[in-house]
Amino acid sequence: MREGKLYIGGKFVNSSSRKKFISLNPANERPFGRYQLGNKNDVDKAVQAAKKALPLWKKTPAPKRAEILFEVVRLLKKHKERLAKLEVLEMGKVYSEATGDVQEAIDVFEYMAGEGRRLFGYTTPSELKNKFCMTIRIPLGVVGLITPWNFPIAIPAWKLAPALICGNTCVLKPSSDTPGNAIELIKILEEAGLPKGVVNLVTGSAKDVGEPIVKHSGIQGLSFTGSVETGKFIVANAGLKKVGLELGGKNAIIVMEDADLNLAVDGIVWGGFGTTGQRCTAASRVIVHKKVKKELEERLLRRVKRLRLGSGLKRSTDVGPLINEKAVEKSEYYTQVGKKQRAKLLCGGERADMKGFFFKPTLFTNVKPKMRIAQEEIFGPVVSLIPVSGIGQAIRVCNGVSYGLSSAIYTKDIKNAMIAAQEIETGLTYINSSTIGSEVHLPFGGVKDTGNGREAGIEGIHEFSETKVIYIDYSGKLQKAQID
Ligand code: UN1
Repeated sequence: MREGKLYIGGKFVNSSSRKKFISLNPANERPFGRYQLGNKNDVDKAVQAAKKALPLWKKTPAPKRAEILFEVVRLLKKHKERLAKLEVLEMGKVYSEATGDVQEAIDVFEYMAGEGRRLFGYTTPSELKNKFCMTIRIPLGVVGLITPWNFPIAIPAWKLAPALICGNTCVLKPSSDTPGNAIELIKILEEAGLPKGVVNLVTGSAKDVGEPIVKHSGIQGLSFTGSVETGKFIVANAGLKKVGLELGGKNAIIVMEDADLNLAVDGIVWGGFGTTGQRCTAASRVIVHKKVKKELEERLLRRVKRLRLGSGLKRSTDVGPLINEKAVEKSEYYTQVGKKQRAKLLCGGERADMKGFFFKPTLFTNVKPKMRIAQEEIFGPVVSLIPVSGIGQAIRVCNGVSYGLSSAIYTKDIKNAMIAAQEIETGLTYINSSTIGSEVHLPFGGVKDTGNGREAGIEGIHEFSETKVIYIDYSGKLQKAQID
């Protein structure tokens, strides 16, 4: 079994708790790795180390910081297959998607490394003579990063890369389902030459590690991807820290009567069952025009029934396991809820008869917009078809949930596409493409209960820095703004 330690001040160390926990391979339920059960004391040490490393890192010219990030890119490329394999074993996603996850990490480190030679501020005229105004970007200080298991390398990378290029130092708490992947990323940062203490990692529970990070007075910024419940806890307990939250979705694909149905089916299968439905951006609702409902149902059912479950390492596998037993129970539970509320089950709806946390790809139809399966995030391979009679109703149904992360519309009519693009209340809308597949040079995040802030792209830089204004008065006399 793999062994993983905490990483504090540039050293791999044990927790003072002397306790450990294990992560499982979700495809066979066998132990995969054993890790340190960190505690508040470890978090304190990690924050101290980050604080100590901050002055030097902050003063390091951003293009020099970028050199290390470019080296991370090189190493991630070199180790891509090995990392992807590790990801399949600890998280369960299929191999091709795991390589995609590592690629996303490569992309974001490359993009943010490029920012080392930009980190633009701006200049603007002063209202007074012989006075010059400009802005620069400054780091927040020590930032706490709390990451989920579904993109065990990409999401830590989304947060680390901008945080580092902006000159912050970091304390990372990865999900307890996938600490091994985060530790591998840390090893790569170390090998790339990141100075001691700039990044620290503490593994352990939400209560003993997450909470002390959220409440820590030595931390100035927090970035979290996970549940709404935890997001609310963070807002209530973070004090005045700058907080970025990405809290999931109940994303819909709208299929209009003029849609290319083959394309729509491809998008629904990819968005609904890719990563076994375990993406914040997963398409868990299909809002379909009643004129094409029957046809879409039939085509979709044919495709979904053919999906093969199995280990993500097998080439023949389309859909991997869920992350853990609790996730299987959640999909089971929502299947019962769906049936009870009289949605029609077309296929799946039960755990697969095999070892591992497998749940059969599940399709419900005749789903009403207010049914719980159409409102609540399931984070499993469960897709609900909701019939509507036009674009207006489609948009209303799409917006009638608490979340607002991603959305998509399949149509050949530019009018429908433009209405959807402008009226859907989500951070992302895809036209004739699925709800998943964001690219790292564009901002990512949502509205409503999905949270606030944007990761990746230039807005990722804003998330991990503040604007500082500099006024230079070279008049040699006291000039008074608003008065002289
Ligand atoms: C997430 O599930 O939290 O667009 C992120 C996508 C991925 C990111 C998903 N690039 O689906």
